Amino acid sequence: MFGGRPEIAARSPGRINVIGEHVDYQEGLVLPAAIDRYVFAHARRIDAPQLRLWSAEIGGRPVTVGIGHSEPLTGSDFWANYVFGVFAQYRDAGHPVGGLEITFEATLPAGAGMSSSAAIEAATALAVETAGGFSLPARDRALLCQRADHDYVGVPCGIMDQLAVNSGVAGHLLEIDCRSLGVTPTSLPDGLSLVAVDSKVKHTLADGEYGKRRADCEAAAGQLGLPTLRDATLAQIDAAAAALGGRVARRARHVVREIARVREFIAALQAGNAGDAGQRMFDSHASLRDDYEVSCDELDQLVAIAASHGALGSRLMGGGFGGSTINLVRSAEADAFAADVIADYAECCGIEGSAFVVHPVAGAGAQKEVAS
Ligand code: GLA
Repeated sequence: MFGGRPEIAARSPGRINVIGEHVDYQEGLVLPAAIDRYVFAHARRIDAPQLRLWSAEIGGRPVTVGIGHSEPLTGSDFWANYVFGVFAQYRDAGHPVGGLEITFEATLPAGAGMSSSAAIEAATALAVETAGGFSLPARDRALLCQRADHDYVGVPCGIMDQLAVNSGVAGHLLEIDCRSLGVTPTSLPDGLSLVAVDSKVKHTLADGEYGKRRADCEAAAGQLGLPTLRDATLAQIDAAAAALGGRVARRARHVVREIARVREFIAALQAGNAGDAGQRMFDSHASLRDDYEVSCDELDQLVAIAASHGALGSRLMGGGFGGSTINLVRSAEADAFAADVIADYAECCGIEGSAFVVHPVAGAGAQKEVAS
């Protein structure tokens, strides 16, 4: 695209989330893992004070933006905010940055609830750090990428995705406490596997709905006199239900119960009770559907189909309104399960979904290539 060899190669994985949905921005507990689907960035330093950006996924002409620019990009350049926003955060924090050409490619599908946004941010971050000859700890990089999302993309996301893709550990799930930002790697017991199923639908309703859910939670916490819902109890919510109003009370109940479910899921797995753990995933889905109202017909169908094929647990993952489900199954049955779910989904919904067995991988990384 730019007529030269890249000198830096960076990549970031996407993520799945086993349980703990729509709780990260309330300082809750989550259980994601980085996965072997990636966004790749190839970069080269240039003398011009510009970023020149091109994505194979988007196509079209490259986006060019001055390195001193400070406004979010609009129109058909909007996608580049995930990149430029990260660059601008490094610049504004006083890190050494300069002109760059960067191209992007991906094996991680966009809009599938597997954090392609956090992945393009992390790949960019690693490219910028490598070009500048510095390196931030994964946690600081995650926080910087989250700020880029808030300030340039305009999504008030939590920290789960950025922490997961930056802190992944091969073969492990990550228990993340979104209050302390502590990340504890943990493994699935032998004999159990996770299967991600992409519904291939994305309802545009999602735009703005995420922020509304977050605002409802903040209203509930404020009413209860708490900084977030992390320490709220169901008794407190019930007592304040009239003042909160039906919708806000339901949102708050989801958050409180979902945080409890993460603890219960982990305890059940440790006790060797995969059935109990899986039930928490089904319960999570029901709560996201009924109380949090972020599901859709296709995701509900996928969960029902998964149950009919013997999944121990199944639920939507990510922001919702489309995207993917995550399913807990016996490893011996994982491949057949994936094929059966896709076949039934095509029959019921007329959509060709896709499914794969999850292999957790290490977080984002970069290398400086030796020019030949
Ligand atoms: C999106 C956000 C995350 C998180 C999930 C829901 O993926 O980026 O911060 O809130 O939705 O759990």
